Amino acid sequence: MTRYFQSILSKRSSGLKGQINIPSDKSISHRALIMGSLAIGKTSISGLLESDDVFKTANGLKALGVDIYKESDHWCVHGVGIGGFCEPDDIIDCGNSGTSVRLLMGLVSTCPIKVTFTGDDSLRKRPMDRVVMPLSEFGAIFSSNHDFKLPINVIGSSEPIPINYNLQIPSAQVKSAILLAGLNVRGKTTVLENEPTRDHTEKMLKFLGANIQIEKKGSINNISVNGFPKLNPGNISVPGDISSASFPIALACMIPNSELIVKSVGLNPLRDGFIETLIEMGANIKIQNKNIEAGELVADLHVSYSPNLVGVEVPEDRSARMIDEYPILSILAATAKGPTIMKGIEELRFKESDRLEAIADGLEKNGVFITKKKDQLTVFGRGGSQKIKGGSIINASNDHRIAMSFASLGSITENSIEIRGASSIKTSFPNFIDLMNSIGLKIVALKD
Ligand code: S3P
Repeated sequence: MTRYFQSILSKRSSGLKGQINIPSDKSISHRALIMGSLAIGKTSISGLLESDDVFKTANGLKALGVDIYKESDHWCVHGVGIGGFCEPDDIIDCGNSGTSVRLLMGLVSTCPIKVTFTGDDSLRKRPMDRVVMPLSEFGAIFSSNHDFKLPINVIGSSEPIPINYNLQIPSAQVKSAILLAGLNVRGKTTVLENEPTRDHTEKMLKFLGANIQIEKKGSINNISVNGFPKLNPGNISVPGDISSASFPIALACMIPNSELIVKSVGLNPLRDGFIETLIEMGANIKIQNKNIEAGELVADLHVSYSPNLVGVEVPEDRSARMIDEYPILSILAATAKGPTIMKGIEELRFKESDRLEAIADGLEKNGVFITKKKDQLTVFGRGGSQKIKGGSIINASNDHRIAMSFASLGSITENSIEIRGASSIKTSFPNFIDLMNSIGLKIVALKD
């Protein structure tokens, strides 16, 4: 069994080699459990991500009366049907997982039940008003001690009315919460999205037979669901997570003599901004064996050392397509030649930690020059042959992507980097240390 270490040390490494399977997609795993619980009958999920965050969604659904269990190598969900949830006996604790709490709030807000949600220290600091506002329009009642932060009590509406909601921030979690709530409402619920965000919810609803209409007007999407669609239980397979794959991909680009194949990575066109950016920077990445699985594009990525990386400007309108990849992009940018300017990234401040500050601080501590604004970060890379000092201690503040990003930086710096708060990695990439070490990284656990 994998042990999770609070503190790890990442040492300078040489060439990464091999062929790896990356952990399954976290966003799709949450949705597979949720959709399975809404379809009447048995849904079988292969490749569900077995990580803390996904288990929080599973436990939340179990508390709402859904039967979920593992049978050999796949997970079974016995759906209770749309609106079939029962009132839980206890508080639902979503731990570190924003996706769990926001999607589950959507689900219960149009069911006549009372539910209290909470989370860990990080989740209790994150904004929930972004879901509370639209879900209140359905008729649900929310209460919390302050500012609509967790813990939050929800009284789901017994006579919900359909809504038309214009999303103020690009957020797939908010969009999904509204669409899931709309499934249990007579009539048509519409979300207007000014900047497209990951559409796994829409794709999976379609895959299971729901009638979901998407009208595109330029870059604006009008997404509508009619209440009470018949969702057919079925077999869902979950592809590898591009957000987890971004670490070995960046590492293979940065470390001389690397040659890596990352198998079966989900390449949803609304999640591929990182690959687009890397290719613009001059990364050697080939996309091979494209395929469609459960409505999602999947491919193998062949990545090799990329000695001529250059800094680029990453435009604001790409940010939703790579929101979770900015931490590792910033590390890669430190090895490229010239500045990489990342625009329109204020949303990073509302993740598991304030990621904009965490990246900026961590890079500065290790000898990389940066500048930052409220919604922008510039990393001044000095070119691959110029060594980065390293040698610092990073407190990842229980943010998995910050921990993995600085573990990646430690593999190319002159001096090793120590990362504290590294056990958070298990929320999305439980075998990160073993898998990365198996292809050539040198990450060691320090005594807890
Ligand atoms: C997610 C959406 C994104 C992303 C998060 C997962 C999802 O959050 O950062 O890791 O599964 O819908 P936002 O919706 O807040 O942008």
